[in-house]
Amino acid sequence: MIKKGIILAGGMGTRMSPLTKAVNKQLLPLHDKPLIYYPLSVLMLAGIKNILIIVNKGQLNQFRKIIPEKNNFGIKIEYKEQLSPRGLPDAFIIGEKFIGKDNVVLILGDNFFYGQSLTKTLVKSTKLKKGAKIFLHPVKKPNAYGVAKINKNKKVISLVEKPKKPMSNLAVTGIYFFDNNVIKFAKKIKPSKRKELEIIDLLKIYKSKKKLSAEFIGRGGTWLDAGNINDLYDASSYVSAIENRQGLKIGCIEEIAFKKKWISKKDIQKSIIQYGNCEYAAYLKKL
Ligand code: TTP
Repeated sequence: MIKKGIILAGGMGTRMSPLTKAVNKQLLPLHDKPLIYYPLSVLMLAGIKNILIIVNKGQLNQFRKIIPEKNNFGIKIEYKEQLSPRGLPDAFIIGEKFIGKDNVVLILGDNFFYGQSLTKTLVKSTKLKKGAKIFLHPVKKPNAYGVAKINKNKKVISLVEKPKKPMSNLAVTGIYFFDNNVIKFAKKIKPSKRKELEIIDLLKIYKSKKKLSAEFIGRGGTWLDAGNINDLYDASSYVSAIENRQGLKIGCIEEIAFKKKWISKKDIQKSIIQYGNCEYAAYLKKL
């Protein structure tokens, strides 16, 4: 069982400038919560309680205000700073000590996932012992993403970053399950032309060893890269529509922890006081 997860919440946020000039993208609102609540809740739904959050140098205190190490969410949070946005695989170099001898899940801090059978698929994926697993989702314009082709056993047989002629409509989403070799492999790869370590290069190492498999969010599920303004607003409208219609929240971390029996009523009460007089706290009261 994978018990450790990393949220990569640094980055430059160039695509969202000037919104991201003073505020980190992961702290921007997605409907009624900071964006980072959503990837955090996905890790929690996968049953992961031991979480490292990687942030930009100098932004630690802002994040701590929202997700403190000493929290009422029933999870263990650690922080590390990334000195410069060297690329996604840097997470495993920065996180080497945190990962130790275990396997690990990486989720991008700006990725939004939602779907009925998602929890089941996530929990199943934490059973990974060897190799790596990616989550794929169909998109209309695959040439803007990493694209994968799989065989009938869900093994990845082809993987191309922003292909001119996409060989499928399956984009590689921002959640990845790795065995412990990921630390060694991340150290091996060289920066690309844009001077970043590329996740696709890391995945290609697993693919070349025939150890890269894929899972699906499913047709009824949603994946959005909220790192661009249109997707951020789409995700916001989506959450707002569902929450207003059903009266149930998406990405409410206290609710997830409570349902998993990681926290008690008392912890929820503490959170209610800390949030103060707001709609989110009113929802927690109803729990
Ligand atoms: P990206 O969206 O690929 O990069 P970015 O955040 O720098 O944004 P932009 O392309 O607009 O400049 O990053 C994906 C996620 O990973 C995002 O949540 C930020 C995070 N990230 C890091 O924490 N460190 C890094 O070195 C990089 C490249 C990204």
